[in-house]
Amino acid sequence: MTVDPREAADALLAGRLVALPTETVYGLGARADSPHALARVYAAKGRPADHPLIVHVRDASALAAWAADVPAYAASLAGAFWPGPLTLVVRRSARALDAVTGGQDTVAIRVPAHPAARAVLDALVESTGDAAFGVAAPSANRFGRVSPTTSAHVVSELADVLTEGDLVLEGGASEVGVESTIVDCTGALPAVLRPGRVSVADIERATGLATGEPSGARAPGTLASHYAPQASVRIIDTATLALAPAADAMVGVLALAGVPTPSGHVRLSAPETTDDYARVLYAALREADALGLAEVLAVPPPAGGIGAAVADRLSRAAAGG
Ligand code: TXA
Ligand code: MG
Repeated sequence: MTVDPREAADALLAGRLVALPTETVYGLGARADSPHALARVYAAKGRPADHPLIVHVRDASALAAWAADVPAYAASLAGAFWPGPLTLVVRRSARALDAVTGGQDTVAIRVPAHPAARAVLDALVESTGDAAFGVAAPSANRFGRVSPTTSAHVVSELADVLTEGDLVLEGGASEVGVESTIVDCTGALPAVLRPGRVSVADIERATGLATGEPSGARAPGTLASHYAPQASVRIIDTATLALAPAADAMVGVLALAGVPTPSGHVRLSAPETTDDYARVLYAALREADALGLAEVLAVPPPAGGIGAAVADRLSRAAAGG
């Protein structure tokens, strides 16, 4: 564990794995130009090799170095939302190794906003003289499990696979709480592959375009059963929740603060707003497992803003478990 971005940057340069705080979730970083370091990322997560990684860069100027082609709407999105919780999938340049892209002809790029992640990327650019230096980082969890939003979550996921010289950079609890919005920028129109804090309405406003259907770029990480805790998750509405039989001590409840907890149920969290719901979602699912709950009843927040991303992650959690 370290709090020093310079130390984290040096470890990355030495080919080590470094778990990095970002505003969405913690990532497990490796230098994107090192097949050896990238292979360790896949091994640590237990992730299939055809699931590509997101490359994190210092600023939008790096996009052109990683992309063979940047459509005008992609440049608009980068300008509007970077640094921030948005990932752009573009046709790749020769810089993007197969070990990063899973052999696809596209690459996913993101400029994170968390100050510690930015400090690491600044230090890497300064040390290497390469303004487009990339850190490949998937979420720092075992494959198929809930993403970590604190350094303690990272340690509980990965302690036994990190080795001498690897690091976890402390950066507090992630502010957004769910992974970045992924936008496929290889077609005539932007297409959302994974919903996040940047909504469809945000994308349409920033580009002046309607969003389209994905043009073949796949986000294999968006499997139906992703983001699953051990407890089974059931999506439920407020009226049905109110009828839940009492004294079922092993059942957890996750819902906005205004939704009452049926008697005998374990309230996991009572977020006041949809943004708060996203922020606490993964910690609440981890808490359910820590308490040994068999089931979690989840009432999704309203659909606006980040609500679509919360509903998406809840339905994937409900499909797995
Ligand atoms: O917020 C985030 O995006 C976090 C933080 C650490 O930046 N990262 C993250 O990484 O969620 P990961 O590996 O858990 O999810 C990356 C997603 C996967 O669904 C993957 O399939 C998709 O990005 N992806 C990566 N490269 C892609 C590509 N070339 N085309 C389509 N999807 C891609
Ligand atoms: Mg992930």
